[in-house]
Amino acid sequence: MRKFSILLKSLIAVIAVLVIAACSPLQQFLSEIRGGEATQEEDDSLEFQAYEYRLGLMRAQNWKFRALRGMVEEGVEVDEVIFTEYSNDLAALSGMLTEGFIPGSNVSNSRALPDIWTDWDGFLQKVGDLEAATAELAQQAATSGSAAAGTSVQSVGSACGGCHRSYRGE
Ligand code: HEC
Repeated sequence: MRKFSILLKSLIAVIAVLVIAACSPLQQFLSEIRGGEATQEEDDSLEFQAYEYRLGLMRAQNWKFRALRGMVEEGVEVDEVIFTEYSNDLAALSGMLTEGFIPGSNVSNSRALPDIWTDWDGFLQKVGDLEAATAELAQQAATSGSAAAGTSVQSVGSACGGCHRSYRGE
């Protein structure tokens, strides 16, 4: 009889654990720590894809820009072929930015400020500033090489910062 009651208690305990595990807040919590279902929906949305796309662009720009700045400002050995190539890459990348900022794409981890969409013309102006600066840099790199392009690299940096100060949050 005593054995039976211990068995029954254990059985009840097991059932209780199963019931708790099946209830949705816990399941959601578990799937969140596994990076499962709860974030899946977000990953597939157009808005989340736009966010990832623009982060990719920003990181690519950062890579190219650092290399150029290294060559003109930080004494990194100059490779003229790479200098021209990266300048062209920056010009191409800056023309691809706008499409990454579709409405509603300030998803959870995004640092994009709502002002981008409430002040779209102002934002486009900042994109335009970068396009102008990178076009000038590419032109200068092609015609006169890196030695003449120091100021243009600085202007590109200012155009990056100009937009970040207005439209990127913490
Ligand atoms: C027209 C506006 C604009 C311009 C110009 C711009 N950025 Fe950004 N950048 C943003 C915004 C907005 C974010 C935040 C995006 C987000 O989190 O959704 C960002 C994010 C970044 C990030 C962080 C990416 C990450 O992994 O979180 C880097 C790095 C970056 N930008 C580099 C650059 C560089 C380098 C340039 C210039 C060559 C540049 N950006 C030009 C608006 C701009």
